Amino acid sequence: MIAGLSCVGPSLAQTPSRPEALLKKMTLDEKIGQLVQRAGGRSKALNSRLDDSELERVRAGGVGSYLHVAGAEPLAKLQKVAVEESRLGIPLLFSMDVVHGYRTIFPVPLAIAATWAPESEERAARVAADEATAAGLHWTFAPMIDIARDPRWGRIVEGAGEDPYLGARMAVAQVNGFQGGNTLRPGSLMATAKHFGAYGAAIGGRDYNSADLSERTLQEVYLPPFYAAARAGAGSFMAAFNDIAGVPTTANRELLRGTLRERWGWQGLLVSDWGAIGELLSHGVAADRAGAAVLSLDASVDMDMVGAVYAEDLKGAIAKDPARIKLLDEAVLRILRVKEQLGLFDRPMAYHDVAREARELLSPEHREAARAVARQSIVLLRNEGRVLPLNPDKLRSIAVIGALATDGRSALGSWKAQGREEEVVTLLKGITAAAPRTLRILSAPGADPRNVDLTGIPAAVKAAKSADVVVLMIGEDFDLSGESRSRSDLGLPPSQDELARRILDLGKPVVVVLANGRPLAIPLLADRATAILETWMLGTESGNAIADVLFGKYSPAGRLPAAFPRATGAVPFNYAANPTGRPADPDLAKDTVRYHDLPITPLYPFGHGLTYSEFRYSDLAQSTASVDPGGRIDISITVENTGGVASDEVVQLYCRDPVASVARPVLELRGFKRVDLGAGTRKRITFSLTPEQFAFWSPRGQWLIESGRIDFWIGASSADLRAKGSFEITKTHAGTAPAAALPTRVIVSSN
Ligand code: NOJ
Repeated sequence: MIAGLSCVGPSLAQTPSRPEALLKKMTLDEKIGQLVQRAGGRSKALNSRLDDSELERVRAGGVGSYLHVAGAEPLAKLQKVAVEESRLGIPLLFSMDVVHGYRTIFPVPLAIAATWAPESEERAARVAADEATAAGLHWTFAPMIDIARDPRWGRIVEGAGEDPYLGARMAVAQVNGFQGGNTLRPGSLMATAKHFGAYGAAIGGRDYNSADLSERTLQEVYLPPFYAAARAGAGSFMAAFNDIAGVPTTANRELLRGTLRERWGWQGLLVSDWGAIGELLSHGVAADRAGAAVLSLDASVDMDMVGAVYAEDLKGAIAKDPARIKLLDEAVLRILRVKEQLGLFDRPMAYHDVAREARELLSPEHREAARAVARQSIVLLRNEGRVLPLNPDKLRSIAVIGALATDGRSALGSWKAQGREEEVVTLLKGITAAAPRTLRILSAPGADPRNVDLTGIPAAVKAAKSADVVVLMIGEDFDLSGESRSRSDLGLPPSQDELARRILDLGKPVVVVLANGRPLAIPLLADRATAILETWMLGTESGNAIADVLFGKYSPAGRLPAAFPRATGAVPFNYAANPTGRPADPDLAKDTVRYHDLPITPLYPFGHGLTYSEFRYSDLAQSTASVDPGGRIDISITVENTGGVASDEVVQLYCRDPVASVARPVLELRGFKRVDLGAGTRKRITFSLTPEQFAFWSPRGQWLIESGRIDFWIGASSADLRAKGSFEITKTHAGTAPAAALPTRVIVSSN
């Protein structure tokens, strides 16, 4: 077991007596019942399956949990049946995908990652938890912390992008926000770290596809956010649908029981993905459902989401080999233990306060929090001639073009929980509310992202022609990213591309407001748009947040959590790549690691984002030239706002191990801090690092820190490095944890 990790998550050692006592009283059917999670709603219709036959199943102890249910009152009735009418009175767990909000919807997770502000991520998760727990829910299937390096994968929108260090920080922030602290407690919304372990590595970005990656990449890139989430006390994990090198994760004993439980010491509730136990037959690793049940239980999958394989086929498998009852008992105990920790045995009705539900959902404070996080999520990609911010007092008219500008549903993005389209402030509404009465606002949809109908374009061109400036909202709608929404082409959808060309041809100032759930290949816009604001899908307060930025009430300062490619064929691309024997060189068109027909750089690099101000980095200092095992090095820099406009700046620390026994990436993020700086003010930022943060996965299958030089850079993006230094690690020694999972301490002082 890894040092310091003896009791992450709910631990067997802390088992309260109640779950064990209950276990002794349970029949085989009741035990299996705890492992069963049923869908309480048909498709999106919440609670629609909770009819009499369902209540009968609960009375018989045949259900441990429901998903796709919600509502303080309807769930109170169901819980009452479980605790008052079933033989042992074991409460149910109610769950839902509360991913970036429950009723007040925050930006999609990729957008929140663009804040580079874990504290904002935590706040967003806390608000979601306040609303969801008020509506009867105990458990969310979030955070999704899969690293995604191929933007063709539709689920990149649900995570924090390409980098394991940023991903680990955002993972911890969400676990803390959902659970309200670093352990499960009564009133928590139990978090689920998903989809363990390499779902984001699906080959070609095709959702559900196999992953086939080296052990080093798995350990160094895909697993760190999961390790960090386990350490943060995530009550639950979900196994990924896909296989890694032929081993479907749901049946991956080595990864689930070995790495997660035994080596990391995590003992929480492990749930399958939707029907994934049954899918072991399609994977071709189980001949029948009983075989699939045995493989999953043996791998330590505790709960069967919806598939009913445990419900229907586990009993027979146990009859064939009674030794399996031990595995079943362990799973039951883990489920009962989280129920206990959530306080459900003592106060089963605590999540069913109707007055609280009415108070919490979409409260003014929640809307304000969503607006604040939304504007922090906006990334200014380009701003020619400083066209932004717009000064509404100097403009007579503005044309708001694009179907997305009035599309509230798309602003909610993937996994909208109980978010309502009609409660969204769209871009048109936001601009209208923010603009002075003297400003004439023209609007036209032009063309819809998923429609080939271009007949609206002439009217949009006409409106654009008669305005001083055009705000063109284009990109993807909500249904072009998310689960099973991978795309083979990262360009703008054809109708959006055509609309953009026709508007750009007018030769007017055009501010593109880009909406999308993934990095896009947009060379046309990068070349010809006057400004580009990356706004992702910003949730309920979308239009207000964008208007704040357009009119200069707030300086954008978000940064890309994943690079934008120049062309679809350039992915996967990642800044943290190995140098190779022939490093890419802008001056050499051949014989280096590059495409012959593209520049070596991405369109917009990882960490990129402009602001309305400018910053000077100075006075780099380090506390020591060499660090011993167990020691620390402090690296400090002063950042001064020299651009005359108050703004945040995201200060980024990258490192490289230039000579090691295995090739190391050319750069790796190892620290960052979003700081707010008034015009003319400065702050000193100190990053405090340990040698453990430079461990790599050795060919012998261990974390290893080698002695030697480490180079570091501080800058404003992975391609805008402003100051450089280096230090020595004095001794080679063993590491204990995934390096990218370990947090860098950051201290900010005024100076
Ligand atoms: C399948 C998805 O992969 C998973 O992320 C989600 O939590 C479940 N469906 C439940 O909706």
